[in-house]
Amino acid sequence: MERAAQEESRRFGYQQVELPIIEPVELIERGLGADSDAGGKELYRLEPHGDSDGEAPARLVLRPEGTAGMVRAYFQGGLNQGPQPVRLFTLGPMFRHDRPQHLRYRQFYQFDVEVIGDHSPAYDVEVIELSWRWLETTGIDQVSLELNSIGDANCRPQYLRLLQEYYRPLKDRLHSDCQRRVEQNPLRLLDCKEEQCQPFKAGAPRITDHLCAACAAAFAEVKSLLDAAELEYRLNPYLVRGLDYYTRTVFELQHQSLGGAQNSLGGGGRYDALAAVLGFADTPGVGFAGGIDRVAFMLQHEQRSVRTAPAADVLVMPETEGLARAAAQVGRVCRGAAPTGVDYSARSLRAKMRAADRSGARWAVIMNADEARRQVARLRDLVSGDQREVAWDALPEAIAPEGGTD
Ligand code: HAM
Repeated sequence: MERAAQEESRRFGYQQVELPIIEPVELIERGLGADSDAGGKELYRLEPHGDSDGEAPARLVLRPEGTAGMVRAYFQGGLNQGPQPVRLFTLGPMFRHDRPQHLRYRQFYQFDVEVIGDHSPAYDVEVIELSWRWLETTGIDQVSLELNSIGDANCRPQYLRLLQEYYRPLKDRLHSDCQRRVEQNPLRLLDCKEEQCQPFKAGAPRITDHLCAACAAAFAEVKSLLDAAELEYRLNPYLVRGLDYYTRTVFELQHQSLGGAQNSLGGGGRYDALAAVLGFADTPGVGFAGGIDRVAFMLQHEQRSVRTAPAADVLVMPETEGLARAAAQVGRVCRGAAPTGVDYSARSLRAKMRAADRSGARWAVIMNADEARRQVARLRDLVSGDQREVAWDALPEAIAPEGGTD
């Protein structure tokens, strides 16, 4: 899955970055919202360490997600100075202190992609397409793309007032969390999963009916570009996402067979106000994060096994002991054309061949002392069983993917 993420990201022109796992609490609280789950009650806070030089100790947390750290890195690494936008991705662990349950872990792994530095809705669609292709190449289908726009600072405040006006008279009939949300975070009323709150949603005002002209135009452009990319989507007026930094486009890739609150394989959206909230120059961005643990579960669930790629395509196996030097040299030669491992063990050739078959490698390069002296080897196709003698220096061409022997 990680390799598919890397390949797909590079195909779209995204560069991989490594970010710190420990971040200052201010970055996360400001970015995600101290009232949000991931930026608030679920934060893993580290005990402050006293500094010897008398400076106040930094308050640090384990990162719950990658976007805030990515935006910080974009500025602190000087990426804002180069050509815009900047397309980045990262892979790694995230931490949220929720009640652990199936597909909701306290340490989980994300594939995170971000495009920072341009407003165009075309980037929203590019990010969606990249995330979609990632799931496609890992072999997952029947994914539903849920789409919504949650407006911006221009139009959302008026909409939130309408939402509050609608919900206030219903307050007593809502779940206790939602009673609080009416005043504190009304947008989250829309994605409440509690049974008792469901009947009221249908009558609630929809944000997409209250977008300002600029947000409405951006949303129309996103939909039209998704149509052109032949990516099917479902307009979901209740999709609001759990982090505070979103503006305009929000989306999720859901798989119904996962069910319940954990049905989201990934999600993301635009965050044009985040950089300014973090104290940097006002800079737009859009991104996505996929949950690798959930995708892994889906693959096992759908296919019963995860296809593991062989560690090496070529295995060099000296037939007798004392050929380590020759085998190492052949390994070096073959590595020019394909990932190559050398079996230096004292096992019998039969045992080495059995291991090679199990490993899924394509080629075995077998050699005895006489062949080593002549600088040739037996190249065996582990799929067809064909075998022929090949000079060492001709091996790269023989095993190169396009120059195979068959
Ligand atoms: P998120 O929706 O919080 O978004 O997380 C993205 C994905 O991470 C989820 O759809 C889910 O698959 C996975 N995930 C989240 N929490 C857990 C957990 N406790 N256990 C297992 N998997 C989990 C973000 O994190 C945003 N930073 C996405 C983004 C990037 N928005 C813009 N750019």
